[in-house]
Amino acid sequence: MDKQAGDPDIQKIFIFVLGFAIGVAMTLVPFIEVTWDSPRHDSYSLALTGVDGLVQPASSGGAPSLSPEFNLTLYAENTRLIAEKCFSHGRVAVSYGGVAVGEGRVPGFCAGARSTAEVGAAARGVGVRLPDGQRRRLEAELRWGAAEFDVEAKLFRDRDDETQSPVLLWCKAAWPQLPPQPPRCKAFTDFVIDFGV
Ligand SMILES: *[C@@H]1O[C@H](CO)[C@@H](O)[C@H](O)[C@H]1NC(C)=O
Repeated sequence: MDKQAGDPDIQKIFIFVLGFAIGVAMTLVPFIEVTWDSPRHDSYSLALTGVDGLVQPASSGGAPSLSPEFNLTLYAENTRLIAEKCFSHGRVAVSYGGVAVGEGRVPGFCAGARSTAEVGAAARGVGVRLPDGQRRRLEAELRWGAAEFDVEAKLFRDRDDETQSPVLLWCKAAWPQLPPQPPRCKAFTDFVIDFGV
């Protein structure tokens, strides 16, 4: 045993194998970085930057119908070492308590390697009708500064990258905006859901 542990040949073999393993790992890491494209490795967050039209003016009679407007900023963090991440366009839909209250388009954008990109988008709704109880709850939450919306975004890859499925995001967004904003989006890809977009 003593002889084996101290055997210089075995030590040399060990050092050689270790060096080889480190070499292989260093060669593979950039390769994995480029090819590994799971959205789990990117993080997305979203903030509402402007909200309007959610409260029915007291003077207007008749059936309450709202025409809400939402401005939002979407942040995409690309954690990959060298690959840029681009989206040609996207769709965004805002809902409150399960009721769709606005939708809109996300312009194309790119996040460079190891950086975060942000893109602004607007969503609107026309003639939105919330059930009475929900409308009153929303008005109260807006007064208290505690309204929360669900935002769903579908981001399509760059044209060069059409083989890749779009990224679907499910986010929570508070209004008024609460600083600081933690990453509040769940990202999915490789799904088969048709949103008719
Ligand atoms: C959204 O942004 C546009 C352009 O900056 C602005 O004109 C509009 O008033 C904003 N709407 C809201 C609800 O903040």
